[in-house]
Amino acid sequence: MAHTILTGAQWGDEGKGKIIDVLTDSVNAVVRSQGGNNAGHTVFVGNKKFVLHLIPSGILRKGKLCVIGNGVVVDPIALVEEIDGLVSQGVKVGRNLAISDRAHIVFPFHRLLDEAREAVRADGKIGTTKRGIGPAYGDKAARIGLRLCDLLQPKVFQERLEARISEFNHWHKGSGIESPDFNKLHAAYRSAGDRLAPFVTNTTMLLHKLHNKGASLLFEGAQGTFLDVDHGTYPFVTSSNTTAGGACTGSGFPPNLITHVMGVMKAYTTRVGEGPLPTQDDKLASMLHEMGREFGATTGRARRCGWFDAVITRTAQIINGFDQLAITNVDGLDGLEEIQVAVAYKLEGRKIEYLPAEIEQFSHCQPVYKKFKGWMRDTSQVKSFRQLPPLCKDYLKAITELTGGKLTMVSVGASREQTIFC
Ligand code: GDP
Ligand code: IMO
Ligand code: MG
Repeated sequence: MAHTILTGAQWGDEGKGKIIDVLTDSVNAVVRSQGGNNAGHTVFVGNKKFVLHLIPSGILRKGKLCVIGNGVVVDPIALVEEIDGLVSQGVKVGRNLAISDRAHIVFPFHRLLDEAREAVRADGKIGTTKRGIGPAYGDKAARIGLRLCDLLQPKVFQERLEARISEFNHWHKGSGIESPDFNKLHAAYRSAGDRLAPFVTNTTMLLHKLHNKGASLLFEGAQGTFLDVDHGTYPFVTSSNTTAGGACTGSGFPPNLITHVMGVMKAYTTRVGEGPLPTQDDKLASMLHEMGREFGATTGRARRCGWFDAVITRTAQIINGFDQLAITNVDGLDGLEEIQVAVAYKLEGRKIEYLPAEIEQFSHCQPVYKKFKGWMRDTSQVKSFRQLPPLCKDYLKAITELTGGKLTMVSVGASREQTIFC
């Protein structure tokens, strides 16, 4: 029995979904503990592609329980659509899904606020996914949010929704943001609530019981370390704690029962949305985009791409305590003669090995690169670490050492079979 937290070591989209799907084979349950449907986790089963947003990526494996924990913000309409989409693709969704009664609800007015805030920010926009995630977590912190336990009690839901809309109108009247239509909203959410009711439960107690029965749990991080609201590149972050500690808060599972923390990182760096990306390299981005790679799984936006940044992954190691590392998308670098890795930054003439807190300073950090010779060979069919080209092994060992932790998995393609255990 081992419980593992899996966390993105960069700015999200590290390939967490693929790694979770592979690891699910050897656990009993997969747990989401933060974020919402801003996440997009891609999993291939054969040549069938699935993109999971709210439902844990373990859902594609038979007999595994998938849990949406208290720290997740749930858009009930989007969740019902996701369930229906999976069922129409032949995936069973029934007793294998549990949703926390404490999870906060995302409403359409959260999405409108998300969009409106982005629109007035002009140059300073965050580039959010416009799923209403920030405003929903804002309601939670302001103690005016509604939770799934409210949705399931018709009278309570009616009263709390009326009160929330009334408060919304109080602050936003005349702002140009459309006032929520109570009747329409109430009907749509009650109907989604009826669909979700069989799944809603006290998931903290459920996880506690599973642990006592000897089950192994896998905590599926959403987003990545540098999108964390505390440790990320604020304000260009999401609104939840995406780092390993968030998995415990967002599920009610105690930290002293966690066995491993696995960091997932790409062999290069990507970022979608705004905010500094010190190692950004547009030539590398063009090459990856021409290969049809690095387009957002949630919004379809082209991801910005750059060289592997060991300053951020080392910082991620310090924050999350990774004892295991998975490196994905190694095949993306197969055709390069030379590969660069940022080993430090230069800021105002000084060499630093950390991220400054203030975003303007971070945006002035210039990477100090170490160059590696590319292996110039197709790795996508390689089945063992030993068989990887020697220059590729050197590169993987170097970025593992720069990050800290033990390399346990290497991914050389999007499918389950393209995974190497080290
Ligand atoms: P997540 O949000 O961390 O789950 O990652 P995304 O699914 O948003 O983005 C990762 C992308 O990389 C997806 O399109 C995956 O199918 C793909 N992927 C993951 N690992 C590999 C890999 O090793 N090689 C290739 N070619 N694609 C990969
Ligand atoms: P997964 O789980 C990559 C980014 C957005 C934006 C910022 C804030 O697939 O790795 P938000 O809508 O959360 O308020 O947007 O965070 N972002 C992600 N980037 N992967 C994600 O999730 C992301 N979820 C949010 O692009 O820059
Ligand atoms: Mg993603």
